[in-house]
Amino acid sequence: MTTTQAPTAARVRARARSGWPAVTGLLLLSALPILGGALRLGELGADPASAPSPVLAVVIVAHIVGMSVYCLLGAFQFSPALRCRAWHRRVGRVLIPAGIIAALASITLGVFFSGPDEKFALAMVRIAFAVPMLVFLVLATTAIVRRDFTAHGAWMTRAYAIAVTGGTQALVLIVWSILGGETSVESETWLVGVGFVINSLVAEVIIRRRARRGLRRG
Ligand code: HEM
Repeated sequence: MTTTQAPTAARVRARARSGWPAVTGLLLLSALPILGGALRLGELGADPASAPSPVLAVVIVAHIVGMSVYCLLGAFQFSPALRCRAWHRRVGRVLIPAGIIAALASITLGVFFSGPDEKFALAMVRIAFAVPMLVFLVLATTAIVRRDFTAHGAWMTRAYAIAVTGGTQALVLIVWSILGGETSVESETWLVGVGFVINSLVAEVIIRRRARRGLRRG
């Protein structure tokens, strides 16, 4: 019994250490918003006038491409196996500018929001998280310049948690509808906020667990 269980447990531990279960989960979480963004890009390509102005069309493209690149490549940064390699550094050089462009574009889209009045509050909730995402990315960059890897990891985790909220928000909305909750713009605004809060709390748990593990290793 023990001889068959031991290698299995070791394999499970090795897989967790490689980080692939986390990477796969994050890629799946990113899939839905990225798909939505790709559809909007197709619509913009077919009808550029569907954007409020040519300048905002460019901002929308920057937002969608920046967020998609950040979510996809960012998932791989959570693999401890890749973290010790040149891959992490090389991808980081693409990731941080992509995240900063995406967050700046989010803020611009929120500030120049021209959609229906009832969606204004939703845009403001998104701005309320786009601003911290930008600040966290700047703090992550200054931390890496100082060679403070712990702080860098913590700020990047917080920024990434905000960026991948699209998937969490979709899950929260699905659970809400299954439970019979009404689907209105007002409830959507609250649920999007809940999605941001859930991801930010999960990020704090991961950061604390990482710190505890670091202390144990001495
Ligand atoms: C992969 C992730 C994401 C994708 C693909 C995406 C895509 C989009 C799309 C297609 C729009 C509508 C643009 C338009 O046609 O006017 C939009 C709007 C917006 N997004 Fe994102 N987004 C993502 C993540 C985020 C995140 C994490 C934030 C904030 C932290 C954010 C903030 C905003 C804001 C402020 C707007 C404009 C206001 C609104 O439509 O509510 N987005 N996004």
